[in-house]
Amino acid sequence: MERVSELASPPSNEPEPLLRVRDLTLRFGGVTALNGVDFEVRRGELFAIIGPNGAGKTSIFNCLNSVYRPQQGTITLNGKSLLGRPPAAVAALGVARTFQNLGLFSHLTLVENLMLGRHHLMRTGFFSGMLWWGRAKREEIAHRAAVERIVELLELEPYRRMPAGLLPYGVAKRAELGRALAMEPTLLLLDEPVAGMNLEETEDTARYLLEVRRELGLAMILVEHDMSLVMDLADRVMALDFGVVIATGAPSEIQGDPKVIEAYLGGAA
Ligand SMILES: Nc1ncnc2c1ncn2[C@@H]1O[C@H](COP(=O)(O)OP(=O)(O)OP(=O)(O)O)[C@@H](O)[C@H]1O
Ligand SMILES: [Mg+2]
Repeated sequence: MERVSELASPPSNEPEPLLRVRDLTLRFGGVTALNGVDFEVRRGELFAIIGPNGAGKTSIFNCLNSVYRPQQGTITLNGKSLLGRPPAAVAALGVARTFQNLGLFSHLTLVENLMLGRHHLMRTGFFSGMLWWGRAKREEIAHRAAVERIVELLELEPYRRMPAGLLPYGVAKRAELGRALAMEPTLLLLDEPVAGMNLEETEDTARYLLEVRRELGLAMILVEHDMSLVMDLADRVMALDFGVVIATGAPSEIQGDPKVIEAYLGGAA
């Protein structure tokens, strides 16, 4: 008998990944920060990048959002090359980022900071807004509604009107995640989202990241030194050492990989 289910189900290996990075090579004078880095991120995937200090993790993010210009290699998102586009154009294509140091405007309220995250989605500029008051008003209402959904998702209601500079540290980090989400990215870059957090704040962040992924279904690249967080959250992990990929695979494979263990313990051994 014919097995209909097999015909109906899509192939498990997606043909075109969301992000494809090939042969990425970045040098600063004599220092090779990245050397022939290859990886891909699938739609909706939580992909982690680990490695000792100076391995090149942040440099990958800086290449992805066009802050650095690699000497060699290709980066494509949805089949479109990101190389040579200004950072704002990369953001408009759907790549959002949180920073190792907070990227909020301290004198603006939490909600105002999230509204700024939507700036590139707003069609009505200030002057046309004066001429087309009705349209600008409708657009503003839609943007506010989108921001409120994020406030709710991240349980930020109690802090809505508080200036970002007065937010407790853990809440400010969550607000920064909210600002990035307000951009409606398809790929979110998280650089050390739990750095400086205590255990409770770290566990909260893990819960919010899983919630965001479940609700919004976006792909994330997580750079993080907290190994238990990486191993709990990531679908796949890539380990870097001195700008070279030493292993890529499921968290359980990476944890036991001799090259990864050597990279972390090599100096001490
Ligand atoms: N703007 C720059 N100018 C010169 N060298 C740089 C620059 N940015 C990064 N590097 C060098 O590139 C290498 C990789 O640095 P990168 O910041 O990407 O590491 P990382 O893996 O993010 O480290 P950490 O875990 O400490 O954040 C390092 O040797 C660093 O000194
Ligand atoms: Mg870094």
